Amino acid sequence: MPSQIDAKMETAGDFDVRQAGLQIVRTVKALRKPVASWRAAGETIALVPTMGALHDGHLALVRLAAKSADRVVVSIFVNPAQFAPHEDLSQYPRDETGDVAKLKASGVSLVWAPDAAEMYPQGSATSVVPAGAALGLEGDSRPHHFGGVATVCLKLFNQVQPDSAIFGEKDFQQLAVIRQLVRDVDLNLKIISLKTVREKDGLAMSSRNRYLSAEDRARAPSLFEIISSVALKARQSSVPKLIKDAEAALLKRGFASVDYVAIRDAETLGPFKANSDRPGRVLVAAKLGSTRLIDNVSC
Ligand code: PAF
Repeated sequence: MPSQIDAKMETAGDFDVRQAGLQIVRTVKALRKPVASWRAAGETIALVPTMGALHDGHLALVRLAAKSADRVVVSIFVNPAQFAPHEDLSQYPRDETGDVAKLKASGVSLVWAPDAAEMYPQGSATSVVPAGAALGLEGDSRPHHFGGVATVCLKLFNQVQPDSAIFGEKDFQQLAVIRQLVRDVDLNLKIISLKTVREKDGLAMSSRNRYLSAEDRARAPSLFEIISSVALKARQSSVPKLIKDAEAALLKRGFASVDYVAIRDAETLGPFKANSDRPGRVLVAAKLGSTRLIDNVSC
């Protein structure tokens, strides 16, 4: 059954699908052509990796990408390798038509939207096993997750050959894992990060926010409020007590469970040293109903 996108196809085959005037490419083979011609023309490329269901936070990444390179590629791929079997892969929001409409006026050159068979063809057997920044926090709660993220990002970097890739601070540990990947395997690209984009009430923008019931949506800003208060006290108070109190406060505000509240060194994600001048980070993961939210702030 042809998708809405296919129905608007201007050029046949896997080469070039256009929707709202934007080129959508679905095969690695087809992607090589524009990438090669931009590189031959001496143009720089910035990649914004996404799993679609784009919100204003993503669009802010795209605007930053457009400022830092001649060409912007946005990838839209809901990566099965970063979801465990019990996680929300099948429920993860997908709205390619809406995504492309949002990207239309944002200076994007191309949308890279392979399907799972193109990204992981039969016989694929190589994956990245990140350690270092990937250990602990999300790595404890979702042990498979960063392996999937690092593998797909390495593939995206090889496919798009960008000079830079833009990631949000909202997924702070992911950002650290990607920076480590780039360092560890000597990738020739710059990782650029952007501050978390928030709703007016402080809730970090996330594709998963749409799963929240009206009641839980009203409770959700407590996450930012509580970690911001931890951040203010992080250098003067007992860290274990701050964490214990923050976890209790989240449960009191209606969160169903708390995976972690942690204060870490912002660069290494190792232990936080309150008496040093090194930057710190307060990180949290907690569930509202069945929706798992993460957030972080500096301290
Ligand atoms: O942050 C995300 O949306 C994903 O983890 C990413 C980086 C696109 C990899 O699938």
